[in-house]
Amino acid sequence: MAYAAGVDVGSTQTKAVIVDEHGRIISRALIDTGANVVKAAENAYQTCLDNGNLREEEVEYVIGTGYGRYRVTFGNTQITEISCHARGAVNMFPHTRTVLDMGGQDTKAIRVNANGDVLDFCMNDKCAAGTGRFLGAASAALEIPLDDLGPTALKAERPVRISTTCTVFAESEVLSWLGKGKKIEDILLGVHQSIASRSIGLLRRVGIDEQITFTGGVAKNVGMVKALEQNLGLNLNVSPESHFMGALGAALFALDHILASRAPLGAREEHA
Ligand SMILES: Nc1ncnc2c1ncn2[C@@H]1O[C@H](COP(=O)(O)OP(=O)(O)OP(=O)(O)O)[C@@H](O)[C@H]1O
Ligand SMILES: [Mg+2]
Repeated sequence: MAYAAGVDVGSTQTKAVIVDEHGRIISRALIDTGANVVKAAENAYQTCLDNGNLREEEVEYVIGTGYGRYRVTFGNTQITEISCHARGAVNMFPHTRTVLDMGGQDTKAIRVNANGDVLDFCMNDKCAAGTGRFLGAASAALEIPLDDLGPTALKAERPVRISTTCTVFAESEVLSWLGKGKKIEDILLGVHQSIASRSIGLLRRVGIDEQITFTGGVAKNVGMVKALEQNLGLNLNVSPESHFMGALGAALFALDHILASRAPLGAREEHA
C-alpha cells in the first residue's frame, strides 16, 4: 500500500493528513504553528505518522501548502493553499463551485470547476477583520474559549451591530458594548455577522456559484456557519474535515504524483 501526505502550515495552525492509495484519510494531526515554522511542520507530520502507525519510508510523496509551505523542508514539492483547499473541497463535495476558506489570518473566496481547477480567487487584503483572528480577539475580550464562541452566539436574540472593521479595535468595541450592559451572546452574534458580511463581499467578487463549501478552522464555528447561511439565504457544505481540507488537497495532489509515476510510459505521455 502506498501512502501520500499533505502538510498545511497555516499562519495560526499546522495541519497534516496522510491518505492511502484510494485517497482515503488514514491519519491527521493539528498543532499550533507558533514561532518556529520549520518545527511546526515537522511536529505535525511526525504526529500524523504516529497517529497512523506509519513509518516515514512508507509515505512516498509529501506536499507542503499554506503560508509556510516552503518551510516543509522534508516535502517533495509545494502547492498553494488556494489550489489545495479547492482540491480538498471538490473531493469531499463534488458539486462545489465556490470555496470559502476562513483561516486565522486570511479569508479566501475561490471559484472552481468540476475538476477542482481554480478559475478565480480573491482574499482579504492585509487586514484580518474578516478572519479567525478577529474571533480570537473577541474570545479574549469576553474570556470565552474559541470552541464556545459559536454555540454562545446562537443563543442571541438582539445582536449588536459591530462598527469597527479593524481587529485591533475589536476588543475595545466588544468591551464598550459590555459596559453598556449588552448580553455576551448578542455581542458575539454581532461579531459573527460582521465577519460573515465581509466574507460574503469576497464571495461576490469571485461570483457566488452553488454549491459553496466552507473550509478552514473557522468552519468549525457553528455560529459562523449559521451567520453566513442566513445572510446568503442558502446552505453551505461543511465537512467534519473542514479544518484539514488544505492538507487533504495537498495529500491528494501527492497521490496523483505517485499514481502518475507508476503509469506505463505511453499513458504518461498521453497525459503530459
Ligand atoms: N474548534 C474550533 N472552534 C472554533 N473556531 C476554531 C476552532 N479551531 C480553530 N478555530 C479557528 O480557526 C482559526 C485557524 O484556522 P486555520 O487553521 O484554517 O488557519 P490557518 O490556516 O493557520 O490560517 P491562514 O490560512 O489564514 O494562514 C483560528 O484562528 C480559530 O479562529
Ligand atoms: Mg489556512
